[in-house]
Amino acid sequence: MLLCQISDLYLVEEGALACGRVDTPGMLEQCVRKILELPLRPDVLVATGDLTDNAIVAEYGVLREILAPLPMPIFLAAGNHDRRGALQTAFPDHRYLRGEDGFVQHVIDDFELRLVVLDTVVANEEGGLLCERRLRWLDRTLAASSRPTIVAQHHPPFAAGLNYMDARGLANPAAEATVIARHPHVERVISGHFHRNMQARFAGTVALACPSTAHQLMLDLVPGADIRFTYEPAGFHLHLWNGAELVTHTAVAGDFSRLGHQRLKRRAGPYAAEQDSGMVKCALAAVKKARPSSSCAAIAARRSRPPRRRCRRTRCARPSR
Ligand SMILES: [Fe+2]
Repeated sequence: MLLCQISDLYLVEEGALACGRVDTPGMLEQCVRKILELPLRPDVLVATGDLTDNAIVAEYGVLREILAPLPMPIFLAAGNHDRRGALQTAFPDHRYLRGEDGFVQHVIDDFELRLVVLDTVVANEEGGLLCERRLRWLDRTLAASSRPTIVAQHHPPFAAGLNYMDARGLANPAAEATVIARHPHVERVISGHFHRNMQARFAGTVALACPSTAHQLMLDLVPGADIRFTYEPAGFHLHLWNGAELVTHTAVAGDFSRLGHQRLKRRAGPYAAEQDSGMVKCALAAVKKARPSSSCAAIAARRSRPPRRRCRRTRCARPSR
């Protein structure tokens, strides 16, 4: 089973830019193209929150439109940039969004791996929290089956070392750890919010943060550093369950064709792993020969060389006899 996770989409209305400069719809389209091009298509996709920038109807409309080409079942989770009511109104056909106990949380039992989507959102707050009601629901839901399970939520249950985000993280990760530790069949706790790829040991399992499909948070671990975003490659996670183990891959989205060997005019990939290095050397030498050196010494040497006469009969560069 292959689960695709996207996160922190930050979608804005048609023609607008997130943070005044990021074309988040265009970047999500790029991720969707990448997912559709994967040799092994994911069985299911989960989006772990911050689906939109401002939680307005038009932004959720953009989300629906961009995700439409994906053929697999899609499950949405709320982040601090979303509003539960707006999300439920925009996706009335996603019945699971009605949630349980007043929260947008639910369990998906249709696949080999069980997916428990947990709501960590506190209305009008950037940071998250798991109140008693949500923790009880999590405990109850995990106890209902001992099948391998992924818990998906927006706020990661660990500190990133990124000062600004840690001040806006999950307020009570220890309380969640107490619950998770009671259920050793939890294979992963997956999340977003931090806009970077991160891993941490957590309550006897592994907790992960997924990159954003849009802009990434700058890797500035200096205590007290302010929040800044960068244009590092956007990406998503692929969680591969082989029946016994779960392996998580990080995929990057973007056009990397310009990173290939430009002098050889070769595509950046894909290409066979077993390359003949001798052939590559020959090809490089041919390119070098075809392009005269532009160094001063090489230019002077070319100028001092007597011009070669052309053969009258064949017009080749050999002197005629
Ligand atoms: Fe967030």
